[in-house]
Amino acid sequence: MNRIQIIQDDITRLSVDAIVNAANESLLGGGGVDGAIHRAAGPELLIECRTLSGCPTGQAKITKGHRLPARFVIHTVGPIWLGGHEGEAELLASCYRNSMQLAIAKGLSSIAFPAISCGVYGYPIEPAAQIAVKTIAETLQSSDQMEKVYLVCFGDKVLTAYTQALNQCLSKSQAST
Ligand code: APR
Repeated sequence: MNRIQIIQDDITRLSVDAIVNAANESLLGGGGVDGAIHRAAGPELLIECRTLSGCPTGQAKITKGHRLPARFVIHTVGPIWLGGHEGEAELLASCYRNSMQLAIAKGLSSIAFPAISCGVYGYPIEPAAQIAVKTIAETLQSSDQMEKVYLVCFGDKVLTAYTQALNQCLSKSQAST
């Protein structure tokens, strides 16, 4: 669990192996963190994304980082919140799981996630943070390769939710040892 670290920062500034982009299924850019990543990475990122033919919700695809300090960008598409009865929780978990597995398969040892679906896509932050921490912790249990996972918060509400989710996960894992 100590491999997971919550930070407040702009994800485009992080010098990690991979940053995760909260994209849409076209992978052709947008607003929010998607827009920030494309602006910082430069036009070559969009040119590379065009070769990927999009990405279904819950899945993840990897590109180079181009002008970003990060070596790679893992583009994942979170679910749009529709009230919680359309499989949103499992799709969000799949975003974290597939991004982690893609990074591990690529041999990466550090990754940074934004709060996927918690902006434009309207996912309630508290349950989204619980899903993020639980899924990442589960993936880390089966891999020593990944040394650092940053949960990048962009605002106090997300920071509070992630901190509570991580503390709960820590206390559960300590109780079970
Ligand atoms: N660094 C870190 N986090 C950021 C940054 C940044 N530079 N910019 C925004 N965020 C945060 C938001 O505050 C939010 O907590 O990323 C989280 C995800 O919000 P969005 O970027 O709106 O992503 P999402 O809710 O998944 O919606 C995806 O929005 O931008 C479009 O093309 C994107 O259609 C897709 C949709």
